[in-house]
Amino acid sequence: MEVDRGELIQSLGGEAAVAEMSHEQRADALEEFQIGKLDAEMAARKKRGKFPTVAELESQIETRTWRLGSGKLFRPGDKMGRFEGDSDGPQVKRLPKMPPNPSFYDYFALRVAPGTHLLQSAALAKARNESEEVILACLLHDLGGTLMKTDHGYWGAALIEPYVSERVTFAVRYHQALRFFPDPEVGYEYPIRYFEAFGIDYVPPPYIQDAYKYARAHKWYGLARSVTTNDLYAFNPDINPSIDDFRDIIDRHFRHPPEGLGYDNTPAAHMWRSMANPDAPL
Ligand SMILES: [Fe+2]
Ligand SMILES: [Fe+2]
Repeated sequence: MEVDRGELIQSLGGEAAVAEMSHEQRADALEEFQIGKLDAEMAARKKRGKFPTVAELESQIETRTWRLGSGKLFRPGDKMGRFEGDSDGPQVKRLPKMPPNPSFYDYFALRVAPGTHLLQSAALAKARNESEEVILACLLHDLGGTLMKTDHGYWGAALIEPYVSERVTFAVRYHQALRFFPDPEVGYEYPIRYFEAFGIDYVPPPYIQDAYKYARAHKWYGLARSVTTNDLYAFNPDINPSIDDFRDIIDRHFRHPPEGLGYDNTPAAHMWRSMANPDAPL
């Protein structure tokens, strides 16, 4: 959802009042503002019956020349299955070459950037004093969507598994299932945009329900749940974090292979190479 900067600033008492606020207060204010807007939007859409059904979304499949679940790197400009403008989307750009022995920073700068959603989610986690592992999980949580949007939590977990703690991998893998299940105790509600993306009458498939039950009973449930509570969608021009804000955390919790990601013979190496070379014919 788009945030109207002027409206947000006005709701907080003007530019001067916003300038006085701490980073954390701004993040909290933005969240409150978004929740209010989303509630209003949901009420309005319900009235208009605007959300599609599962069957309506399925009927759109054969109107496309592309598959919905392919990764962002392969479908630039895509927003939750909707290309802006031309129905086939914007033309792709020639990608910059990756350096030898590429690190996570190289992949982030050359294949993921701007990565605003990841950076803003991690910044929110940091502002809320979450643990370093939760902040890292937030920074990595939708990385899998660069390669494949379908089952992005599992793709993301597989990508990072050889390089981060089991807890970070767990949080990334299970945030996907947890997003479908509210947890009022920590203020997590079903995302309104899922009504749009999955259909108003969508029921998660059994493997997602099983994954939720497993994660809900797991000792690391809180880690995965924290990824969902810091999952921030709207772009806010006032919060503009940089990957450098998380460099110390990444360096402490992400083990870089000396050969570079993609060239270290782990079970994830081919996945990183596919991000490095998405224009390779085979
Ligand atoms: Fe996600
Ligand atoms: Fe996300």
